[in-house]
Amino acid sequence: MKRTDVFWDAPAEALDRERLRALQLHRLRSTLERVLCSPFYQARLGEAGISPGDIRSPEDIRKLPLTTKQDLRNQYPYGLLCTTKDKLVRLHVSSGTTGQATAVFYSRHDVDHWADLLARCMYMTGARPGDTFQNLTGYGLFTGGLGFHYGAERLGLLTIPSGAGNSRRQIQLMRDFSTTVMHIIPSYALRLMDIMTEMGLDPRKELSLRIAYLGAEPYSEEVRRRVEEFYGIDVYNSYGLSEMNGPGVAFECPWKTGMHIWEDAYWVEVLDPETLAPVPEGTLGELVLTTLNRDAMPILRYRTKDLTRLLPGECPCGRAHVRLDRIQGRSDDMFIIKGVNIFPVQVEQVLMNIAEVGNNYVIILRRENNVDEMIVKVEVTDRIFVEDMRHLQRVQKKIAHDLKGELLLTPRIELVEPNGLPRSEGKAVRLVDERKI
Ligand code: COA
Ligand code: AMP
Ligand code: ZN
Repeated sequence: MKRTDVFWDAPAEALDRERLRALQLHRLRSTLERVLCSPFYQARLGEAGISPGDIRSPEDIRKLPLTTKQDLRNQYPYGLLCTTKDKLVRLHVSSGTTGQATAVFYSRHDVDHWADLLARCMYMTGARPGDTFQNLTGYGLFTGGLGFHYGAERLGLLTIPSGAGNSRRQIQLMRDFSTTVMHIIPSYALRLMDIMTEMGLDPRKELSLRIAYLGAEPYSEEVRRRVEEFYGIDVYNSYGLSEMNGPGVAFECPWKTGMHIWEDAYWVEVLDPETLAPVPEGTLGELVLTTLNRDAMPILRYRTKDLTRLLPGECPCGRAHVRLDRIQGRSDDMFIIKGVNIFPVQVEQVLMNIAEVGNNYVIILRRENNVDEMIVKVEVTDRIFVEDMRHLQRVQKKIAHDLKGELLLTPRIELVEPNGLPRSEGKAVRLVDERKI
C-alpha cells in the first residue's frame, strides 16, 4: 500500500505505469482533437495527413509534426490559440520585441491545473500549510512569479510575493515573517549569501528557512551544496519553461535523484537533436514535450532545446513519473543570465539600429564575487570622434537603455574603437561565457 499522505494529488502521483499510460493515451487523443481548433495545427496536421484516429498508442505521437520556438514566434500573438478570447484569463509573453517574442495563453482550467502541479511539487518536498513561502523571482511577465504564487496559495502557504531584487528588504521579510520556504534563482541565492555575510547575519541561527526551490537557469551540484550549507536548508531542483506553462514541469522529490516529470500533464520524448530520432533511456538528447492537459493553447512535440537524459529505474518515493537528469546545456545559442533568457540575435538587432554602432560586438558573461554580469563590448563607427567623451557617454547610455528594454536586464556597455575587437577566423564569436556555473 502506498502512503497517501505523502502525495498532494494521490490519483495522479501514485498511478502505476499501466494506468498512467492509459490516461496519457486518452489525454493525447483529446489534445489532438483540441489542437485542430487552431489554424496553425489544422494546416500542420493536414500537411502530415494525420487525424486523431491515427493515434492508437502514445508512441504514435512520433507521427506528429514537431513544434519549434520559431513556430511560436511566427504565430505571435494568436496563431496557436485553440479557444475564444472570452475563455482566457492570463497570458505570459517572453522578452523581446515583435519578431522574437512568444505568447502563451491560459484559460481558467489551465491556471487551475498549473497551480495544482506546483502545489504537488511543493507538497512533495514537505511544504505544508503553516509554512511561509517567499517568492524571490520576477513577477510580471516571468512565469516563475505568478506560477509559484498560485501554486503556493493553492497549497495553503502564507505567500510573500517579494519578487526579484531589493535584497535587504528580502532579508527583512524573511526575518519578520519567519520565511520557511523560498523560490529563488540560483545566481540570486549566491548573491544573497554575500549580502547576508556583509550584514553579519547567520541564516542558520537567525532565519527559519528549511527549503528552497532553485531553477530557471542551469546550476551545478556544487552550487546546490554551497547554498544548502550556507542557509542550512534542503535545495530542490525545479524545471519548467513558459511554453509548457512555466515552472512545475519537473521537480525533485526528497530523494533528490533527478526531477520527476509529471507525465499525466506532459508526454516526454528525448530525441537526438540532429537526426530527431529517439535516444535510448539514459542517453543525452533534446527534451521534447507535448501538453496533455492544456485547454487554451495545447502544444504538440515542443522542441525545448534543453539537453538532458531520462534516468532509468524506479524512485524509492513511489512515484512512477520518470525522472529527468539536471539540464546539461542547450542545443541552440540561447543563454540565461540572472534567470533571463537571451538570444544573441536580440542583442544584435538592438545594436544594429543605433547609428554610432560599428560592425563588431561581443557579449561576455561573468560571475565575479557572486555577482552575475553581462558585458557588451561594442565597436563604434569611425564616423564618431572618439575624443568626444560626451557623445560617447550618450551612445553608451542609449545602448544600455535600448538593450534593457529588449532584454529586461541591464548590461554593462564598453565602447571600443573601430577594429578594436579581435577578429576571429571563420564564424564570429559573439558570446564568451566565463561563468563557472
Ligand atoms: N534574481 C533576482 N534578483 C537578482 C538576481 C536574480 N537572478 N540577480 C541579482 N538580483 C538582484 C540584485 O542583487 C539587485 O538587488 P538589490 O536591489 O539588492 O541591489 C537587483 O536584483 C537588481 O539587480 P541589477 O543587477 O542591478 O539589475 P538588472 O537590471 O541587471 O537585473 C533583475 C534585473 C535581476 C531584476 C532581472 O534580471 C530579473 O527580473 N531577473 C529574474 C528573472 C526571473 O524571475 N526569471 C524566472 C523565470 S521563470
Ligand atoms: P522560461 O521560458 O523563461 O521559463 O525559461 C525556460 C528555460 O529555462 C528552459 O528551457 C531551460 O533552458 C531553463 N531552465 C529552467 N529551469 C531550469 C533548471 N532547473 N535547470 C537548468 N535550466 C533550467
Ligand atoms: Zn521520487
